[in-house]
Amino acid sequence: MPDTNAPETVLVVDDIELNLMILEEILQDTYKVISADNGIEALEVLHRVKPLPKLILLDLYMPRMNGLAMFELMKADEALKRIPVIFITSSDSETEALSAGAVDFISKPFLPEIVKLRVQNQIKLKNYSDSLEEMVAKKAAEITATLDNILQSMANIIEYRNLESGSHVKRTQFFSKALIDHIIAKGLPYSKELKEMGPDIIVKSVALHDVGKIGIPDKILLKPGKLDHDEFEIMKTHTTIGKQIIESVLSNTEAVYLQHCRDICYCHHERFDGKGYPQGIAGTDIPLPARLLALVDVYDALVSARVYKSAFSYSNAMQIIFEGRGIQFDPQLVDAVVMIQDEFEVISQRLL
Ligand SMILES: [Fe+2]
Ligand SMILES: [Fe+2]
Repeated sequence: MPDTNAPETVLVVDDIELNLMILEEILQDTYKVISADNGIEALEVLHRVKPLPKLILLDLYMPRMNGLAMFELMKADEALKRIPVIFITSSDSETEALSAGAVDFISKPFLPEIVKLRVQNQIKLKNYSDSLEEMVAKKAAEITATLDNILQSMANIIEYRNLESGSHVKRTQFFSKALIDHIIAKGLPYSKELKEMGPDIIVKSVALHDVGKIGIPDKILLKPGKLDHDEFEIMKTHTTIGKQIIESVLSNTEAVYLQHCRDICYCHHERFDGKGYPQGIAGTDIPLPARLLALVDVYDALVSARVYKSAFSYSNAMQIIFEGRGIQFDPQLVDAVVMIQDEFEVISQRLL
């Protein structure tokens, strides 16, 4: 826990010992002052001290590494780029310093009172913007959590209405996670893509694949027998309805979450050979999370008993999946599933 009563740290960087002493003298009543006499040393200090200084008073002209060079390096460093910098040097460099992105400029020779006030003002501003950022991040996390709950509830509603075997949504999430983890752990095809997409977000998004069924009439959704042509056409629209729901609910959230959810809702009935719906896209034109869900969704449907059919054995289900290799399903994903079929079996037995 950071000590909230501890004085804030200010780093002063100047190659002239006397300047360091004067600045320290001016600031030490209010702040903890640390110092360095050139850019390289200052960067070393910054990588060592915790917590980071609230502000840096930086001389422009110094041997080894000057202030501007150090400032450029700081701006490229995730951990350091938000520390405000006040340049402190001869007045003809003011434009140069400010256009580089310094928050303020103090010209030498300086008045102690001016230094004190400028430092104070910038630290106040920095604290204010930090707390604002913290608040925004907290709010964003709250909104995401609320949305997650709403979306999870929507997924559950579908499950209740749909009379699917219980826990279908949960199982598709577990299957997806197991498959993604396996692909990444073994470095199989798509491991790089999946890592970049964010496995957790994909697994979260998977829950919503059939959210569009909210818009399908009961007499079709709950029909025990086979759907006729017209009914099936209506059933197919759960993909486009799902996409619309996701777009309206998630329009203000993280772009990747929105994208994966939308892709999964919209494309989970596409087939690798292009004979799926609603768009009839094929191969890798189908977004990867949707190809992945398509596979585990069918696997779960096969091994679960439904109102209109009894369950297939695990080996039969895997055989059917394998027969769809490169036809209904992405061949690389089928190969990965075959390797972990025992794990899939355990998941479906545990989550009935
Ligand atoms: Fe579906
Ligand atoms: Fe499903």
